[in-house]
Amino acid sequence: MRLSIPLEQINGFFFGFKRGRYFPTRRFPPLTSEEQAITDRFHRLYYRRLFSKATAPSEVSWLGHRVLKCPMDMITYQEIITETQPDLIIECGTKFGGSAFFLATICQLVGNGRIVTIDINAPDDPPKHNLITYLTGSSTDAAIVEQVKNMIRPDMRVMVILDSDHRAAHVRRELELYAPLVSSGCYLIVEDGNVNGHPVFPEHGPGPQEAIKDFLATDDRFELDTQRERHLLTLNPGGFLRRKGEAASA
Ligand SMILES: C[S@@+](CC[C@H](N)C(=O)[O-])C[C@H]1O[C@@H](n2cnc3c(N)ncnc32)[C@H](O)[C@@H]1O
Repeated sequence: MRLSIPLEQINGFFFGFKRGRYFPTRRFPPLTSEEQAITDRFHRLYYRRLFSKATAPSEVSWLGHRVLKCPMDMITYQEIITETQPDLIIECGTKFGGSAFFLATICQLVGNGRIVTIDINAPDDPPKHNLITYLTGSSTDAAIVEQVKNMIRPDMRVMVILDSDHRAAHVRRELELYAPLVSSGCYLIVEDGNVNGHPVFPEHGPGPQEAIKDFLATDDRFELDTQRERHLLTLNPGGFLRRKGEAASA
């Protein structure tokens, strides 16, 4: 018999803490064109200095592991996980494993959830964490998708993060395969919608934002949650999609 003690109970019993219930609700109006121009200028500066492949592919770390995210987005991810408490987070695009590790530590603190992360290239010496499962293969490969589906039980709250090949056709295919796995009230985050001139890397060509637009034109189960962009700097503009409906209670 497998004895399983919920992480939240372990946190409470051994460390004397539990998550709070303050979830920001203030609605922010859209930026004026002047505010948007300032935000875009800062975005380009940030991207050029800390994130551009030409200079350094992300100078950001979490507990000593390299992460290809900006700190503002990491706070947003933490907020989303704390609010929605996913049981499973599916991440397409592992790279160094730092983002999976980040997500796992947040799940650990929240007291719920685990991560499955997929990459076409096996990461070199990825961070170890009991809550992470690493899968090697293309995110759109039928066998990989099957393996992921087998990890989902009917009562689970599932969240998905798409951060692999950012070309529009690949993202569009991932949306087709993974969007149906996202639970009501949970998030489907499509990363790097900032490329193709939104507002960086104009030479990229059609990318995540173009794929999302096409997806949302044909699928009404999701809504864009632009309030998740309230910290102004996000590498995922137009990429925080929430599946409509209420989340199953935790
Ligand atoms: C932007 S990085 C992921 C960054 C990571 N999520 C983070 O935030 O630290 C993109 C990764 O996607 C992987 N990738 C590219 N094409 C892929 C595919 N078809 N399926 C799965 N992974 C893919 C690349 O090998 C690369 O490691």
